[in-house]
Amino acid sequence: MEKLAGKVAVVTGSSSGFGRAIAKAFAASGAKVVCSDVRKEARPEGYETDINLSTDEAIRKAGGDAIFVKCDVTKEAEVKALVDAAVKKYGKLDIIMNNAGVFTRMAKIHECTEDEYEFTMGVNIKGVWNGCKYAIAQMLNQGNGGKVINLVSIGGLVGLANEPAYCASKGAAANLTRQLAIDYGPDKITVNGICPNYAPTAMCRPYYEDEGVKKYVEDVTPLGRWVTAEEIAKLAVYLASGDADYITGALIPIDGGYTAR
Ligand SMILES: NC(=O)c1ccc[n+]([C@@H]2O[C@H](COP(=O)([O-])OP(=O)(O)OC[C@H]3O[C@@H](n4cnc5c(N)ncnc54)[C@H](O)[C@@H]3O)[C@@H](O)[C@H]2O)c1
Repeated sequence: MEKLAGKVAVVTGSSSGFGRAIAKAFAASGAKVVCSDVRKEARPEGYETDINLSTDEAIRKAGGDAIFVKCDVTKEAEVKALVDAAVKKYGKLDIIMNNAGVFTRMAKIHECTEDEYEFTMGVNIKGVWNGCKYAIAQMLNQGNGGKVINLVSIGGLVGLANEPAYCASKGAAANLTRQLAIDYGPDKITVNGICPNYAPTAMCRPYYEDEGVKKYVEDVTPLGRWVTAEEIAKLAVYLASGDADYITGALIPIDGGYTAR
């Protein structure tokens, strides 16, 4: 049987990169998927081979069940409306993948602007906070548990050079993940974090295309390469499935050994 048969999942930031691969993998595993993003179309800088299709269209074309709901995760009312839309369409919510995230540029803290800080924290931690808050409220109403998965980063586990706001936001998302696991374990709501190293997505195109940065990541990664969106999606499907029922509060590196040093 498909691992997520009968489940309803919300994925934030689903139009591009990890969110898109995760939404497609959830649907291929049998879930009904509510795709959501600030934009319906994939970011043009991405590497997706079907970039001309929105994620919900790609899922339906492959025989899956999906809708798109526009949502800016920094806006609490929009996140509440997203969860409500999932319940209205599919009757319940079993899984939320808090994936939406941003990275502005490589810079040291003394070079960063207040706007860069606010923007990064707004999406990467307030957005995760909002997603957790409204999904968990719905799961509590349903009374039969749920799966909350936060897309963190190795930047939530260790310091990354020239990424101060990003690391601050991801460190906060990492510890929020652990905190929520404690509060909602008794309700059988698991809360876990996925911590990838660098991947060729729209977000990282400027670095993946820079031979020096690309090689630096390969050199400091024991497995010698960047992770792929499809590899992240497989871990997300596992964490969303019954196979992971006893895993909560975990921050799982999927980093080719980057944080093993
Ligand atoms: N690519 C990497 O190397 C990498 C590594 C570790 C962690 N991450 C994290 O993975 C997640 C996805 O990254 P990605 O590489 O796929 O990025 P991406 O830029 O390719 O895709 C992110 C998606 O999020 C959407 N988004 C941005 N702001 C939003 C908002 N306020 N509300 C809703 N949607 C919004 C974008 O429109 C885009 O479709 C992020 O949380 C990122 O920090 C990425």
